[in-house]
Amino acid sequence: MPVTRRSALALIGGGSVLAASAGAGGFLATRTPHAALAPWGAAGGYDDARLNALSWALLAPNPHNRQPWQARLIGSDALRLYRDPARTLPQTDPFGRQLTIGMGCFIELMSIAASASGHAVDLALFPQGEGAGRPVAEARFTAGAASPDPLFAHIPTRRTNREAYEQRRPAPAAITALEPHARVITDPDDVAALRRLTWDGWLREALTPAAHGESVDLMRIGRREIEANPDGVALGGAFMETLALAGLLTRDSQRDPESRGFRTGVRIFERVLAATPAYAVITTQGDDARTHIEIGRRWMRFDLTATAQGLSVHPLLQVTQEYAEMAPFRAQAQAMLAGEGETVQLIARLGHGPRVDPAPRWPLETRLRHG
Ligand SMILES: Cc1cc2nc3c(=O)[nH]c(=O)nc-3n(C[C@H](O)[C@H](O)[C@H](O)COP(=O)(O)O)c2cc1C
Repeated sequence: MPVTRRSALALIGGGSVLAASAGAGGFLATRTPHAALAPWGAAGGYDDARLNALSWALLAPNPHNRQPWQARLIGSDALRLYRDPARTLPQTDPFGRQLTIGMGCFIELMSIAASASGHAVDLALFPQGEGAGRPVAEARFTAGAASPDPLFAHIPTRRTNREAYEQRRPAPAAITALEPHARVITDPDDVAALRRLTWDGWLREALTPAAHGESVDLMRIGRREIEANPDGVALGGAFMETLALAGLLTRDSQRDPESRGFRTGVRIFERVLAATPAYAVITTQGDDARTHIEIGRRWMRFDLTATAQGLSVHPLLQVTQEYAEMAPFRAQAQAMLAGEGETVQLIARLGHGPRVDPAPRWPLETRLRHG
């Protein structure tokens, strides 16, 4: 499963995880949640071009791996896309901004995948207006109207990488390829300032019980829990299961900032963050749902371009979050990164990281609406 020891420790976007001694890391094949990873192998195996594109799209990055997408096929060449109202993050994403960005990632991946079979996708965003339960987009597929997008090749190997990165910066050619999609920050003083800011925001979230509790509630500990719910914060592999069996990895200990596990996780994440040679940032003039979809589409292209360039990315959005305890850090992020009238939407680590495993996904069939 996604899990070297350290990545698992760092896995909770808004928090910290457990104690660990040095060493360990690998996991036994018997503890791999094969069914939870099956969608990575099933992608592209459908006859219907729409299902094919959706099967790739569900591999999109998305906050807390909530996978809030649902699709309904319409006629023979269209589909409607919804955001599942049951899959929210009320504490850390009270307005659904990040979840909508994730829907934008999904839409872009769907379009890229459709292009691989020559299909153009015409999109109408929010065709019935915005509002709970209304479709996020309607998409019409036209055969023979698109040429394959080269980014398609990088979908299977794209990952969120929460490991320590090498100190070397991304090469100038890679930065040139990435900059149409997001700003890349490599100036050592600016990177140091962002390391401090993202660390402060991460720690603030870890010490905010309601926000951190949302991550803890979404922890899936060990193969059985991951297979039962292939979403959220997956903590799998032999090492994690051993800690869980020994009582060292529990949801309760993760809620307790005084516990040894919590404190060790914080120290380890501090080291991971220190190993960050560059950041990517997206700011926007608007801050509405259409803008959030557009950010997701840009981010998807950034993420796949980074993969193509041999680079790793790790979104760290704590300081963009809207809950009261984060306000001072959000203000700092705005002052540091936003131009006149802009909102800071997305911040991510960028660099050369080690190989990491894919994250679980729900199968396509569970994301389809019928009727
Ligand atoms: C809008 C958005 C916000 C995210 N925020 C964080 C974050 O703050 N911390 C983190 O570790 N991962 C974050 N992620 C990454 C997701 O957790 C990740 O995409 C998801 O767990 C699936 O894993 P994968 O990208 O490896 O397929 C974010 C992703 C998106 C699209």
